[in-house]
Amino acid sequence: MTAKTWRIGVAGLGTVGAGLLAFLAERPEFAPAGGRAEVTGVSARSRSRPRPFDISPLPWFDDPVALATSPQVDLFVELVGGSDGPAKAAVEAALKAGKPVVTANKALIAEHGAELAALAEASGAPLLFEAAVMGGTPAVKMLREAMVGDEIKSVAGILNGTCNYILTEMEATGRSFAEVLAEAQRLGYAEADPTMDVGGFDAAHKISILAALAFGCAPNFAAAEIEGIEQVELLDIAMARDLGYRIKLVASADRSPDGVLVRVHPSLAPLNHPLAQAGGALNALFIEGTRIGRIFLQGPGAGSGPTAAAVAADIADVMAGAQRPVFQGPAKSLVAFTPVDPSKSVGRAYLRFLVKDEPGVIAAVSETLAEAGVSIESFLQKPVENAPESMRGGVPIVLTTHAVAESVLKAAMERIAGLPAVIDRPRLLRIARI
Ligand code: HSE
Repeated sequence: MTAKTWRIGVAGLGTVGAGLLAFLAERPEFAPAGGRAEVTGVSARSRSRPRPFDISPLPWFDDPVALATSPQVDLFVELVGGSDGPAKAAVEAALKAGKPVVTANKALIAEHGAELAALAEASGAPLLFEAAVMGGTPAVKMLREAMVGDEIKSVAGILNGTCNYILTEMEATGRSFAEVLAEAQRLGYAEADPTMDVGGFDAAHKISILAALAFGCAPNFAAAEIEGIEQVELLDIAMARDLGYRIKLVASADRSPDGVLVRVHPSLAPLNHPLAQAGGALNALFIEGTRIGRIFLQGPGAGSGPTAAAVAADIADVMAGAQRPVFQGPAKSLVAFTPVDPSKSVGRAYLRFLVKDEPGVIAAVSETLAEAGVSIESFLQKPVENAPESMRGGVPIVLTTHAVAESVLKAAMERIAGLPAVIDRPRLLRIARI
């Protein structure tokens, strides 16, 4: 008997699409269960854009929806990106036609995952998205398959390589956010429009997907609290380091009896912690299970080869006939989780104040914190050599707090901002709960 040939339609021929086409051309019989994967149609925004491979022998489709529903295609791979528009239309069309879909599109899954899962399960077509989170590092299968014997308490980590690269370079070179971002764009590491990455939205899409898989609910991107790295200053990187921490963009999802808290914000991780040591464009993730305990995953979160490998692994699952719910449980039983009010969350924090260097200032700041019930854990005042003009002759004082409710902390910060000796708005960074 001849092994089945799976005819693959690939929409989106950017970095990941190029990696996938190169891999399938070289190893069409890669799937462990047997069979052959052959690309029988492609679609992209531009047909003529220079590419590292010749697409002219491959059937071309102007419209990804036509590719997704073509009789020449058994399995549709969506690498277009974007939560709506052609990507969504093509995925919906493929699923309605009963065709398996493999996608790397985190925005699509985070924002429309539940309705797409319902479509997939109604038609019996798999919908797989390993490559949507952490690129080539298998976080999705880990939560959806390998850890179903446990109850997950939390997932937290570094899910955006662009931000991690920028923060790493800022610390290593002493250049500002704007300078490092401009260089990253010039070198092609950062998108021309970097908002999704540096604004924290990409990481929020990914953690929303992981939260759904970890806690058996529908993705609830709208409930994520999101802060990017645009406001991270070199001064804070240096001060945090003096206190024994490194600033990372941490995405986290925590389950408590009140519901689920999903957040993305710049956070301090102790210098010797694995998250602090995941530098450059690496991604890293801690998963905490009730019985399994803590698992740490680290690896490439982007890039042609790694991300295409994750897409190929999903293709192999389809070829093996693997059938399981799209998320953790049948689509009809998925509900959005109850979001926890972030202001009620309790944690440790790093605060920075820019103050006039005069008697009684530290006392005034610490008294205000004490009155609010905020307990100081460590304190640092350090003159800044060659202080920039933006510091207006002030000196920074930084402190870390013991665990405190965020609403209490913010109220105290507001009172401190009103003190006559305080020059600039206070800065707050959370200390990661990892
Ligand atoms: N833009 C993402 C990142 C990679 O910088 O991590 C794709 O999700």
